[in-house]
Formats: sequence, structure tokens, C-alpha cells
Amino acid sequence: MKNRGYYDGFGGAFLPEILVATFDELEKTFLDAKNDPGFWQEYIDIMSTYSCRPTPLTFAENLTKYFGGARIYIKREDLNHTGAHKANNVIGQGLLVKRMGKKRVIAETGAGQHGVATATMAAKFGFQCTIYMGEVDVRRQRPNVFWMERLGAEVVTVREGTRILKDAINESFRDWVTNMDTTHYVLGTACGPHPFPEMVSFFQSIIGKEAREQILERERKLPARIYACVGGGSNALGIFQSFLNDPVELVGVEAAGKGLESGHHASRLSSKDASIGVAQGYKTYFIQNHDGQMKETHSVAAGLDYIGVSPILANFKETGRIRFEAATDKEVVEALALTLRKEGLIPALESAHAFAQAFKEASGMSKEDILIINQSGRGDKDIFTVADAFGDPKWQEFIRNKAEEYHA
Ligand SMILES: Cc1ncc(COP(=O)(O)O)c(C=O)c1O
Repeated sequence: MKNRGYYDGFGGAFLPEILVATFDELEKTFLDAKNDPGFWQEYIDIMSTYSCRPTPLTFAENLTKYFGGARIYIKREDLNHTGAHKANNVIGQGLLVKRMGKKRVIAETGAGQHGVATATMAAKFGFQCTIYMGEVDVRRQRPNVFWMERLGAEVVTVREGTRILKDAINESFRDWVTNMDTTHYVLGTACGPHPFPEMVSFFQSIIGKEAREQILERERKLPARIYACVGGGSNALGIFQSFLNDPVELVGVEAAGKGLESGHHASRLSSKDASIGVAQGYKTYFIQNHDGQMKETHSVAAGLDYIGVSPILANFKETGRIRFEAATDKEVVEALALTLRKEGLIPALESAHAFAQAFKEASGMSKEDILIINQSGRGDKDIFTVADAFGDPKWQEFIRNKAEEYHA
């Protein structure tokens, strides 16, 4: 265990001895790059020519009128290349891989967004790429698997454990231990051993830097509240970081799944079902039993379906700087339906958690107040899940016809 990367007791780097030198190399490369103004400029150049940065801040006029309270703005991370904030992180780590001279990248993925983003980065920078994905997620996110494979990545289906994100992370670490000389593990969120939480948050901080400038330019004042969904915590930290020292209320929204009382959820910071422990190389709140065995989690959004959470966010829960809430699958699908109809926006199911919580609170706020919702990704990938949730009969007929075509 190293004595670095602690956030008041959360975090750290609980590593097998064999990986210590690899982590040291990564940390050194990251710190050198962070202190090199040329590196950030190179990063911004790529993000603005390859990934549509700066992403806009959209005024949601119709939703604002509908709720009759705070003025609602939406930070459009869905407009990144590959449709989510994940691009911010993978391009940053890709530049570090080039600096380290490695030629192969591996990644875990839940919703598939991080996997697709990593596969595009690998294609662009000429790296070999392997993506680990739980069997359950492979089944519910097939379109993303299709694209990862077309982009040249090998997608390995993980059949261990509960066959979701945490199991994909375990497999990625197993691969890394065997291939660390040639391979970098592009961890997809602000979790895992140090320096990942700090490094991923650093690359995602571009969201909040832009949002702060954009709202000040447009409204000449800061928002009263900012909402972001919380899986591992990277999009939330990305937008929150620039407002930590301002009088702005920061609200992280987790997955309440079938309800916090049901036991079928993925709420680590807003439920009583999580406790502090060490797993996957770091210390944070995990959804685990008394023996430290990880329990099953559930969310309609694959990207929020994870047992742990960023140690940086765990610390902000303790200090009270960030308020944590949770939205149920049902509330999320309703918020998605409303956003589609009122604004013509298609948030990812993950992002729709932030929308759902903001919608619960918007009408109780003053018309003078501003709230910002971070739309971390776009919902195209969720078409199968959302069509099921809406019970769309024409979609079911389309799928049946397709299946018949394949049988013919
Ligand atoms: C669109 C989208 N939003 C949010 C998340 C959750 O990740 P994080 O909490 O790291 O932002 C994911 C994860 O896959 C995602 O795909």
C-alpha cells in the first residue's frame, strides 16, 4: 500500500507487488504531463478537432417553462465524439500511453460507452486494443459491442461473478498483471488505485471549466445547483470541480434501481446498503455484505451499475460538500420521456438520473435561480432498453421481423 492518493482516508493504492513499478511509471508520466503546459494545449487541440469541444451549454427553455422554477441549462457532453464524456478521459490517457511508449491498451466497460471511446482512441493512435465486458452488459449493449469490434478491438465477454462491470474490472487487472510492460489499462472512471481517481478527474475537469465560463458569459452569474449522475463518479467530478469553492450546491445522483428499500439498486452514497471497504485496489464505499463480499447491484443504466464509487466523492459525502440523491428506474424513464418531448434531446439512461433529480427540485426553486444538468451522454445506445421500458409494440414487431429474417 502506498501513502499517496488519499482523500481523508479514502482512496490509496492497494496493489499487488508486481504492479507497483507500473503504477509508479504511470504516476510519473501523468505528473510530468500535468506540469507541462504544452501537454494541456495538445489535449485541447485534439479535443476541439476530434471531439467537438467546447461542448455547448443549452438553455432548456421548454423545460424551464414547464416546471416554472429555476432556469434550466444542460451541459452537452453527449456531443462528444462517441456520444459521451468518456472521450475526455480516453484521449487524455491515450496521450500518456504515447509518452510511455506502450503499444497496447485494455479497458473495462459497462454501458459500452467507455469501450467504444477507448476503441476509437486506439484506432486513432494505432494501439492494439482489448475490451473486457460482463456477459450481462454484452447482452444489453450489443450495438456498442458491434462498434468496438468494427473499430478493431477484441471484446472479451466476462462470465465470472455477476457478469457486470465489477467483473470486467477484475479481468482487466488480471490482463494487466500479465502484460504490464507493453500494456496500459485505460480505467474508465474516477475509481481504482491512485493515480486513476486524480488522473481521470483531471481530464474530465474540462467539463466544469467550460460550463463555468459559459454560464458566466451568458447569465453573468453562477448557478444555484448542478446535477450530475454518479456511476464511478467521473462526469460528476468533471463538472463539479470548477465550482467547489463557489456557493453552488452540487448534487450527485445515483441509481435507486427498483427503489432503495428493494435491495435492487446501485446507491453507494445515498443508501444505507454500502459500507467502507477495500476492493479493486482502493478504499471507498462498496455495496458489500458483512464479510466484505460484493453484493449484486441493479440499474436500468448499465453505466451506473457498479459496486464502488470514486474515493474523491466518498470524501465529499463525509464533508457534506456534495449532496447525494438517487433516482429510480421508473423516475429515470419518465424524465427521459419528458426531455425527449420538451427539448428534443436524447439523454443516455445514465444522464437521465441527473435529469430526474433536477425535475423533482426545479419547481421548488426561484425563477431567479439557475440549475445546470450534466448530460453525460446520448441515449442512442439505450434503444433496446428504452423501447422495452416504453413497451413500444412497433419496436417489438420490428425485432420479431428481424429475428424471422435471420431464421429464414
Ligand atoms: C453516458 C454515461 N454517463 C455516465 C456514466 C457513469 O460513469 P461516471 O460516473 O464515471 O461518469 C457512464 C458510464 O458508462 C456513461 O456511459
